[in-house]
Amino acid sequence: MDIRETVKETVLHLEKRIGRVDVAIIIGSGLGNLVQQMELEHKVPYSEIPHFPRSTVKGHAGEVLVGRIGENRVLAFNGRFHYYEGYSMAEVTYPVRVARLLGSKLLIITNAAGGLNPKFQVGDLMIIEDHINFMGVNPLMGPNVDEWGPRFVDLYHVYSKTHIEAIKKIAARKGLFLREGVYLAISGPTYETNAELKMMQILGADAVGMSTVPEAIVAAHMGMPVLGISVITDMALPYITQNVTHEMVLQAAEKASSTLSQLIFELLEEVKV
Ligand code: HPA
Repeated sequence: MDIRETVKETVLHLEKRIGRVDVAIIIGSGLGNLVQQMELEHKVPYSEIPHFPRSTVKGHAGEVLVGRIGENRVLAFNGRFHYYEGYSMAEVTYPVRVARLLGSKLLIITNAAGGLNPKFQVGDLMIIEDHINFMGVNPLMGPNVDEWGPRFVDLYHVYSKTHIEAIKKIAARKGLFLREGVYLAISGPTYETNAELKMMQILGADAVGMSTVPEAIVAAHMGMPVLGISVITDMALPYITQNVTHEMVLQAAEKASSTLSQLIFELLEEVKV
C-alpha cells in the first residue's frame, strides 16, 4: 500500500478517536514522564493504531497521549522509532506525518544526547538551534508526495526562533540555565570513536545523538516549525577514558525530565500554538 494511503487511514482512525490537535511532542529516551502533568483525554497504544510502527527499545512505552495544556490540544508520542532499530526512514518519521495531518502546527522534539561542547555538563538542557545530518540518509529520499510538501526543501528555518525565544524567557524567569547548540545525528547504534568525536567537535557540533534529525526534516517538509531540546546525558569528549552505557543515558534523562517537562508545560500554557 502506498504510504499516502496508509497515513490517510491512520489519520482517519485517530481523528475519530482523539480529534484534532494543535501541538505534537515526540518524547525521547528516558523522558517518558514528560507529559505527566497534562490533563489526559486519551491514551492509545501504538498497537491499536492502524499502520503505526511498534516500539522495541527499553525506556520507550509506545503509546499516543492526548490532552490539553493551556489552550492547546497536545498529542504526545511516548516512544519513538530509531533508525538503528531497523525501521525505515518512512517509519521513523511516520508520527510526524500523522501529527501534521491531524492539525499540529508545532513539533516539539526531545532527546538524550552526548555533550561534545566541553563547557557542557551532564544534566544540562540544550535547545537545538540547528542540526548536522550525519546519519547517511535523508527521510525525503524517494518519490515526493507533492500534497505533503515540495521536492526540494530549504532547511534554513527548521527550528522555530519564536518558540526558542519563548522557552528561553520561561527558563530565565525560573532561574533555569539553558544551553543552545548544534545537534549532530548519527545512525547509531554504536557510540562514537575518539576520532569521530574529535571530528564532530571540529565540525561545530555541540551534542550528538541518534534521533531527531529525520523527524525535524519531515516537519520542515510539511511546513511545521520545530522546537528541539536535548538532555545532555553523558559527556562525549574524545580521548578521555570513560564509558557510556544506555543505562547511564536513561538515568540522566530521567533526572532531567521533570525540569524539561515543566519548561514545555509552561510554554504551552502561555503560548497558543
Ligand atoms: N552519543 C550518541 N548518542 C547518544 C549519546 C552519545 O554520547 N548519549 C545519548 N545519546
